[in-house]
Parts: sequence; structure tokens; C-alpha cells
Amino acid sequence: MNISNLNIEQIRRDFPILSREIFGKPLVYFDNAATTQKPLCVLNKIEEVYSTINANIHRGVHHLSQLATESHENARRTVQQYINAASPAEIVFTRGTTEAINLVASSFCRSQCKPGDEILITTMEHHANIVPWQIQSDIFGVELKVAPITEDGELRIEALEEQISSKTRLISVAHVSNVLGTVNDVEKIVQLAHSYNIPVLIDAAQSVQHLKTDVQALDCDFLVFSSHKMYGPAGIGVLYGKEAWLDRLPPYQGGGEMIAHVSFAKTTFNELPFKFEAGTPDYVGSTALGEAIRYIEKIGLDNIRAYEEHLLYYATEKLLQIEGVKLIGNARRKSSVISFLVGEIHPYDMGMLLDRLGFALRTGHHCAQPLMEFFGIEGTLRASFAFYNTEEEIDRLAEAIVRVKGMFNA
Ligand code: ALA
Repeated sequence: MNISNLNIEQIRRDFPILSREIFGKPLVYFDNAATTQKPLCVLNKIEEVYSTINANIHRGVHHLSQLATESHENARRTVQQYINAASPAEIVFTRGTTEAINLVASSFCRSQCKPGDEILITTMEHHANIVPWQIQSDIFGVELKVAPITEDGELRIEALEEQISSKTRLISVAHVSNVLGTVNDVEKIVQLAHSYNIPVLIDAAQSVQHLKTDVQALDCDFLVFSSHKMYGPAGIGVLYGKEAWLDRLPPYQGGGEMIAHVSFAKTTFNELPFKFEAGTPDYVGSTALGEAIRYIEKIGLDNIRAYEEHLLYYATEKLLQIEGVKLIGNARRKSSVISFLVGEIHPYDMGMLLDRLGFALRTGHHCAQPLMEFFGIEGTLRASFAFYNTEEEIDRLAEAIVRVKGMFNA
């Protein structure tokens, strides 16, 4: 059966790490929601920047500085086009999703909230979309409200609407849950929020690499994601913000780059997006992220989505055939993430033994402790797939789980 338009064998050759062994066994990398592996073109791009155009950007009149600046600003335009933002001024480079949410939480609460105002999130958020808001609550007296989910791991949108009040200042929600794989209906959430004049931040860390993102069609106010989860380098990410919002928000960090003029009496700030980019930006990371985006586009997001959906379906069927396996997260719309438990075996023990057999899965609470509390569990095993994974790897995982289960007489 032809399950994909993609030549997976050829794609796998683009990722050198996939051919290595772990404890003498072929690596099966199923931890893509934590971070993805990097194709050669991204690795080569990093080397190329350092060996041919390395210089600090936006500062020098010299040729190298101009080349490095061009490379960074071209990458900004690549990101802009990838998510269909209206202007490059709406693309702020950050260290990642976490820093992007901290930026919005800090600048938004400082300028738009008064004590007693509310920020609304959901039960399935990653700590990165909980703790920054809690820190701001302590500073500004903002209250954090949490919309509930169902036992299947779906957001209860009608309950979210009930939580909206005249004090709600912003709704911040994951597009895809990093634990459950649930794909939230963010179009509906944005429409609903806007009908109450409330802006929305979308945490797209687990969606931009799987699903087409069009910020103008979605009409979200902010959207954040990380490069390292989309085949790019670690240490760089993106905050998209509508220009009107970014204009209104005060700077997050101070320093070089983000200023127009500094005197000891008063400092004025740079134009967008530089107002939010204090210090020397990661121009190597941005350039390599641009390369990762071109790589994704070459493979095609439609092909990626179709193939990963197939892997999700295949893995779900396979795992459910194993006695004692219980899935955590049974939403109707899921991305390629499966959280599960095997009988009474602790996920950590299972993960350790699978590791010895070459399988990289994540175990634990996945930076979502309140979600674990909701399900009354300490953690899960999690397999998360990318387009370089195969049915055969899933077969091997299923066999390995049965083998490890046998060791526990479970
Ligand atoms: N947020 C990343 C994960 O879910 C680290 O694994």
C-alpha cells in the first residue's frame, strides 16, 4: 500500500543522527514533541554562516555585518511568509516559545491589566503557558482562570465561554497539547474571544511543524513557537503579534538594539520589531531556522500532515492491541502525539528499559503537572512522531513494549 507521497528512506538520509545506534541498537527517535532532529541543510547552514559571513548585525557599516544583517532579516521574512503574517515588523525573534510567552505576559499585564483583571488559560497548558502568567499575577494582582477539559482530553469550549467575564483581558491557549496531542479548535476560540473583544495568544509550539498556520486567516493576536521543534536549531523562537498590539506593548528587556536614542534623562525605543529584541540577536539561529522552514516547505505541510496522521492512526491501533495499554488523550482531532500507560508499570521504569533497546520516548509529567493532576496520574510515556518515522519503527516499539512488560510479569 502506498501510504505516503514522501520518500521516507531518502528523507531519513537527510538526518545523520537517525542512523546512529544506542546501546548497540538502531535508534528509534520518538521524542519529536520535545525536540526534532536536524537535517543536514540546517547543520550546514550554521557552519556556513560562521565560516563565511559571521559579524554582529544591524551595527557595522562593514560588508560582513551587512551580509549577516541581510541573512537575519531574510529569515524574518521567511518566517513571516510561513505563517502568513502581514508584515516582517510582526515577527519578533525570541529564545523560544517560553521567552515569547514571558514577553507577552510581562508587557501585556504591565500595560493592559489592573488588579482583579483575569487571564484565561486551559487545563491542558504546558508550564510555559501557566507560570509566566502566575509570575505576573503576583506582581500585578491579575487572576489566572482555567477552562476545563473532558476525560478524553478535549477543551470544553462552552465552559471556557462561561469563564469569560468583563474582567477577562486575554485568553492564552495551546493549539496542540504536548501531552494529549489534542488539536484545539483555535479558529472557534479566537472568534469567541473576539466577540467579547478579548485578544488571544496561541501557543503553537506543537502545531507549526505539523499544520498549516495562517495568522491572518486565524486572526489571532499573538502566536508563539520554537525553532528546535521544527527541525531548526535550539535557542531561537518566534513571537508573532499583530502590529497594533506590538505597538501598544512596552518593551520587555532593555539594552542595545531596542533603542532609538539613549540619554541618562530619557530613552526612546526602536521601531518594531527591534523594540523587543534587546542585545545581539541570534542571527545564526534565525538563518538556520529559515533553512528549516524551506526544508519543511520542500517536503510540503500537506504531505507531512497526511503521513503523520497515518503514523498516529497506525501507532494507536498497534498500542491498543497490547493488553494493559491505556491511552491518555482520546480527542477526536489529534496531532502525532500519543501518551500512554502500560498496566501498573511506572512510566519511568518502562522508559528506562525501552531506552536500553534504542527507543527515545519521553516519560514523566511533560511540563504539564496540572494536567497530570486532572487525570490523577504522576506521568505518562509519550511517543511523538515526525515525518521521518516509519511503521516499522512503530512495530518495533510495540514488540519492545510486550518484551519489557514480560520482564515485569505484567
Ligand atoms: N515542551 C517539550 C515537551 O513537551 C519540552 O517535551
